[in-house]
Amino acid sequence: MNDAPHKTASQLTDYPAWQGLVAHHRQFRDLHLRQIFADDPQRGERLTAEGAGLYLDYSKNRVTDETLTLLLQLADQAGLASCIEAMFTGKKINVSEHRAVLDTALRAQPGERIEVDGDNVVPEVRAVLDHMAQFSDSVRSGRWVGHTGLAIRNVVNIGIGGSDLGPVMAFEALRHYSQRDMTFRFISNIDGTDFEEATGDLNPEETLFIVCSKTFGTLETLTNAHTARVWCLGKLKDQQAVKRHFVGVSSNTEGMAQFGIDPDNMFCIWDWVGGRYSMDSAIGLSTMLAIGPDNFFAMLSGFHEMDEHFRNTPFERNLPVLMGLLAIWNNNFLGAQTLAVLPYEHYLKRFPAYLQQLTMESNGKHVKLDGSQVEVATAPICWGEPGTNGQHSFYQLIHQGTRLVPCDFIGFCQTLNPLGSHHDILLANLLAQTEALAFGKTKQQVENEGTPAWLAPHRVCEGNRPTNTILAQRLTPQTLGRLVALYEHSVFTQGAIWQIDSFDQWGVELGKQLAQRIIPELESTEEPKLAHDSSTNALIRRYRRLRKQS
Ligand code: F6P
Repeated sequence: MNDAPHKTASQLTDYPAWQGLVAHHRQFRDLHLRQIFADDPQRGERLTAEGAGLYLDYSKNRVTDETLTLLLQLADQAGLASCIEAMFTGKKINVSEHRAVLDTALRAQPGERIEVDGDNVVPEVRAVLDHMAQFSDSVRSGRWVGHTGLAIRNVVNIGIGGSDLGPVMAFEALRHYSQRDMTFRFISNIDGTDFEEATGDLNPEETLFIVCSKTFGTLETLTNAHTARVWCLGKLKDQQAVKRHFVGVSSNTEGMAQFGIDPDNMFCIWDWVGGRYSMDSAIGLSTMLAIGPDNFFAMLSGFHEMDEHFRNTPFERNLPVLMGLLAIWNNNFLGAQTLAVLPYEHYLKRFPAYLQQLTMESNGKHVKLDGSQVEVATAPICWGEPGTNGQHSFYQLIHQGTRLVPCDFIGFCQTLNPLGSHHDILLANLLAQTEALAFGKTKQQVENEGTPAWLAPHRVCEGNRPTNTILAQRLTPQTLGRLVALYEHSVFTQGAIWQIDSFDQWGVELGKQLAQRIIPELESTEEPKLAHDSSTNALIRRYRRLRKQS
């Protein structure tokens, strides 16, 4: 570890652009999107950007040209360009863990050279991808057989956090492209229900487990993996079966070996791959098994396109930079505390859950790189559900609640499942929601519809709710890669401006440590001596008492 404290440039709030934004916000605070659009009728075409196959309409944000100019100045004053370069060139920008952050190397072109500590990592990345492709082909074709000679029909990914959310999101997103005669399941939770429900109807002879854990030390994953081994050997009765039914993905080769994974069935990742940035590494083995190597490589090419766009496009046309800066504006100046991600594509139903880890584990930080307190609010709370389902649930709060909820709407011009007019109706709803949120319905409009005076206030929608609309042609593996990289780099942009370490996650450690202390207190047959606070002590005693009663 490098013990030298990292020096941050200066207080964010001292930047002239930040102060300019404060003054600007004071002046424009009450400006309504109705007015902003009336003053600038072309903004719907102007305030848009296109890159790597994605179209971003950010015109329905509460910004003027001046806001955008100031935000772009802020990016310059915060040194965003050099932060981007530092990331792409393998500098150890994960300061608290003294690690490079090179998920971009996972999708680099074969001939590229990206160095960590003087070593070019691209050949190793390509070698693991080749290994994954060979393995996937042999499983998908039925050449890889289980211990009793039966082909593998079921793949179960065991992992948690980044070792689960990316794989499960990608499987759901790309299910259309998946091998339909194979079953894919994902076990993450330590709750035995997850294991039971995922394996209950599977035959161990036809089941392959992928144990995915960057560290190979995560309690939930190791517990589930051991349970899986017992489940498997319960039927196969031979330790040798582990070789045919378990493969591992990790940076911890020793841990995989101790578990009994055959060295030929180990797929490596590196310390410069963050868990929540790992779905395009070997952690995505289940994705490759589901959609095949060609589709997986197409997904990587989509990631790469967005990487290139982020690295090389001027900020005023740079999608992740614009989205990141708008998030800063909504969060730090308009006071929004949340971001709703609303995909109008059912296959993206796990995308908001995936983004929760990406955005909140990355930017949920209270200190800056140098350890000093961050002086402004950091990551907003990210959540969402696919449209149109959410419309009949929580959209009411977004339309008429007292909180400001900026939203990202994501839609595709072509559906993968053409069915009558379903897709037109779906997209009409997406567009209608962004229109309604921006422009609302005035009292005058409500009254003109003949609404009685007493009812009118209930029907008024203030509008002025900011939204982004992201449109793409259709959901393909390539598009998914572009979309994920868009959010990765938007998160990066925000973290760079806040001067925080977006790549560590120390906050989750405390709960893990405390759980390790409590587990034996729950399990011991003797009454344990408890030294927690009175609430925790009482809860432990209550649990111990009630767990014994039938
Ligand atoms: O506890 C948080 C975390 O470290 C995540 O960052 C990570 O994605 C997850 O746990 C799983 O870690 P691993 O892949 O090492 O099992």
